[in-house]
Amino acid sequence: MYRFVQALCGAAGYTGPHHLVPCSVDFDSFIRRLPKAELHLHLEGTVTPETLVELSAGQNSAALGPEQARALFHYTDFSGFLLAFKAVTEHLRTPDDYELATWRMAQRLAHQGVVHAEVYVSVGVVYYWRRCEFEPLFLGMERARVRAESELGLSLYWIFDAVRHFGPDEAARVFRKAAELRPQFPSIIGIGIGGDERRTGAEPFRSLYTEAREAGLRLTAHAGETVGPEGIWGALNIGAERLGHALSAIHDPELMGVLAERQIPLEICVSSNLRTGCCARPEDHPLRRYFDAGLMVTLNSDDPALFLSDLEDEYRIAQECFAFTEEHLRELASNSIEASFLPPERKVEILRRLESLE
Ligand code: HPA
Ligand code: ZN
Repeated sequence: MYRFVQALCGAAGYTGPHHLVPCSVDFDSFIRRLPKAELHLHLEGTVTPETLVELSAGQNSAALGPEQARALFHYTDFSGFLLAFKAVTEHLRTPDDYELATWRMAQRLAHQGVVHAEVYVSVGVVYYWRRCEFEPLFLGMERARVRAESELGLSLYWIFDAVRHFGPDEAARVFRKAAELRPQFPSIIGIGIGGDERRTGAEPFRSLYTEAREAGLRLTAHAGETVGPEGIWGALNIGAERLGHALSAIHDPELMGVLAERQIPLEICVSSNLRTGCCARPEDHPLRRYFDAGLMVTLNSDDPALFLSDLEDEYRIAQECFAFTEEHLRELASNSIEASFLPPERKVEILRRLESLE
């Protein structure tokens, strides 16, 4: 069987030809059966054009036809991607919208053999652009999370994400809301910063990260996606425990050494980097070099509806384009469980299943 790995044809720069690669049915089945975690996934980025049409039908002034919905997903570079992400988020308005988005995301994850996901929700966009309360929307997400756990056996944690280029005051609102809600909703596991690193590094968020840690929240940060290694050093310096993308670490041997020694988990998102143009060509992507250097690598889909790729695709890409073997993929899945914020006993239970998978 052959499959076109379309996911590798980036919107910016790399436009083809599509790769025609061999791909075995057995491998697909192995990938699906691997119990794995998705650690870098934005709820809003899982909403498909079809779901947007459905949601927007109830929004008097904003009803979208199929073509209009699809048009929202077009972008040609990283800045355009951020605008597309915002445009999709603007159509998530009510608690029921957030519940539906969460439920559909959970169904797709379970279908791919994902047993646990730690999902970014862009609370920063809700506050800054929509100027509305987040709690009612969060209750919709929680309804779907509870249902996913009981009906699909899938656990979900939430990471409240701030938009770095809106600045520290806006981020403070996001992180403090996470701290306020966490005692009642332990599913809120941590905080993070996304957005445009070219406009601000991590340093202005230092005291907010300290405050969040003291409130019992785990710390993540998008880092080194659109800027050089200094963005990754900055995230480490303010205490980030897990790094989103970390694409530019490859250019700094000292940083590579620190990431390897401290086994800092990296949330690698290959399709995302190619489609946003942050990485020009598949052969430039550092995934395999990170793995071979002993870094703690995990595979993730980031915004599957915007990047036309899901977690299974990311594992296939690792196999087909980066020559990862079955045992390597098992190790990547194992990394995803170890790097999650799950309690140790649940990690052990999933890791045992992983080891015994034939
Ligand atoms: N990077 C920065 N901001 C984002 C991303 C990302 O991968 N996804 C959604 N917002
Ligand atoms: Zn992201």
